[in-house]
Amino acid sequence: MVNEDKRLEELSLGEIRELARQRMNPEAWEHIMGSAESGSTRRRNQAALRRILFRQRIFHDITNPDTTVELFGRRLSAPTVVAPVGSFSKIRERAEHEVAEGASRAGSMVFVSHAAKPTVREWTEGITAPLVFMGYLSKGREKVLENARLAEELGYVAVGLTMDVLQPTKLGDRIPLSTDGKPRKGHPASPKDIELLKREVSLPVVVKGIMNPDDARIALESGADALVVSNHGGRLLDFNRAAIEALPEIVQAVGGKVPVLLDSGIRRGGDVVKALALGAKVVLLGRPICWGVGVGGARGVERVFQIITEEIKRVLIMTGVSSIAQVTESLLIRSQPVGPL
Ligand SMILES: Cc1cc2nc3c(=O)[nH]c(=O)nc-3n(C[C@H](O)[C@H](O)[C@H](O)COP(=O)(O)O)c2cc1C
Repeated sequence: MVNEDKRLEELSLGEIRELARQRMNPEAWEHIMGSAESGSTRRRNQAALRRILFRQRIFHDITNPDTTVELFGRRLSAPTVVAPVGSFSKIRERAEHEVAEGASRAGSMVFVSHAAKPTVREWTEGITAPLVFMGYLSKGREKVLENARLAEELGYVAVGLTMDVLQPTKLGDRIPLSTDGKPRKGHPASPKDIELLKREVSLPVVVKGIMNPDDARIALESGADALVVSNHGGRLLDFNRAAIEALPEIVQAVGGKVPVLLDSGIRRGGDVVKALALGAKVVLLGRPICWGVGVGGARGVERVFQIITEEIKRVLIMTGVSSIAQVTESLLIRSQPVGPL
């Protein structure tokens, strides 16, 4: 049990997770933490990250590495952004607003889910964080295009499609209802939808849910301006690869033509640096943001970003790297496990 009186500024991410579990209603906790069937993919996302080691360097004078990065024309204070989560509102009322406020304070960016309660317009109210609208084709093609056009008008920095939900999200052996109380639906992914969205808006188009270099090539040929390597936090296909395992092949297939982003299993600054070293430009955080907002609203979200940024800095210093731009694969050693860690 984490002491409920501990100040937010003193909490580690592990303690924030534990406090979120203590405070959230059990149904919301299960919904957030759940993953498809045996849960193997969710566990593998983190296990695969743990297999990668850093090469320590000490003879240098780096004390305050630059963690800033640019994405879609905006400078972010760190290479971490909020993943699209359709069900923040299960955690607490106004959760989306608090997430956007926390991300604004942290100098981050929010990927807005089409399944979330607030409208595309409501997300923009009173915040400074740049926004990316992520459409769900299961909501109807016209609805995606309508929202994307509105997002462009409202100053969103990019739009995109979450394309991996061919089958509805599964939590254990159960398919939960969608946020509007209706049965969840899957939707086939067609490259034509990327082309259509490209024609409708002049913003960069992001395609999320890429786990295979062949799909990456198809998305690129259809006009995608950025890809998100993701297995949806393990909520779709049991016994999928970890996102970090799929990343190198996809980065190679993309060949630097567009930014490659990654999510699924990122829990520490070290995980972020590993993903960057393997070619990701930015990573998205899903469940850690849910814990942060559950424990402390906007301040909780800000604290999650702060913890991870401090850890990124620490890793950069200990590996002798002065800025995110200098992170390369030479920082890493791929290892076999040495037993339980
Ligand atoms: C509660 C919950 C709801 C989610 N809803 C969406 C969604 O509406 N759209 C989407 O693209 N991804 C959704 N995702 C997936 C996240 O965007 C992201 O891919 C995943 O959470 C990353 O893994 P992590 O939770 O291990 O960080 C959801 C994930 C969770 C945990």
